[in-house]
Amino acid sequence: MKITVLGAGNVGGTLGQAWAKRGHEVFFGVRDPGSDNVRALLAGEGALQAGSLADALAFADVIVIAVPWRVALGQLERTAGLEGKVLVDATNAITWDGGPVAALQESVSELIARAAPGSHVVKAFNSIGAEHMAGPKIAGISPDMFFCGDDEKAKAIVARLASDLGFEPVDVGPLRNARHLESLALLWIHLATARGYGRNIAFKLLRE
Ligand SMILES: NC(=O)c1ccc[n+]([C@@H]2O[C@H](COP(=O)([O-])OP(=O)(O)OC[C@H]3O[C@@H](n4cnc5c(N)ncnc54)[C@H](OP(=O)(O)O)[C@@H]3O)[C@@H](O)[C@H]2O)c1
Repeated sequence: MKITVLGAGNVGGTLGQAWAKRGHEVFFGVRDPGSDNVRALLAGEGALQAGSLADALAFADVIVIAVPWRVALGQLERTAGLEGKVLVDATNAITWDGGPVAALQESVSELIARAAPGSHVVKAFNSIGAEHMAGPKIAGISPDMFFCGDDEKAKAIVARLASDLGFEPVDVGPLRNARHLESLALLWIHLATARGYGRNIAFKLLRE
């Protein structure tokens, strides 16, 4: 599958390299395609390219958003031709200011859907630490990847991409439930930091 990944940081870099290793064709949308970080990523295994955010948005019909949410919103608002594309929103609206982590009342995913009318937004890859997004077993168990969205075909694509990495996909319903997944991320951050569990943690839904 052709996949655009906006951002080549902790999340974008990890996801992009992991999908390329598994045979997908990945294009990173970045500010500086010649940076040391991007060059190191492109030296990884598989089909990897990088270019501007605008070129990246045109490259694929599946676009994973792994830049700060305000950056994503601005770029999407300036971009035409996103109708029908699958926008996979991995962002969390958080600020680190030494105090509590602050979240929006409305989910970022809903803001993104409004910024890109006609696209199919799926919230995913936001509720686990970046270092566990590629080959993610923890204590021998595959974590779940919770996702939600309004378009069934788009969700099936995201479920496959999550499975390719070793996650068990869990469909959480329509896009309005993105606020639950963003809260789940805040819980993850709280457990990892304030509660001292560290970053080697992930959520699992147990069922019979
Ligand atoms: N880190 C995690 O464990 C984790 C887990 C789940 C979700 N998330 C969410 O995923 C998103 C990305 O997090 P991250 O940890 O990957 O961040 P990161 O390592 O700081 O990477 C952010 C990426 O966005 C790019 N970027 C920043 N400002 C930009 C701008 N003004 N224009 C264009 N590109 C810009 C950066 O490019 P440069 O390299 O040029 O600065 C970099 O490629 C955030 O919304 C975060 O909340 C993070």
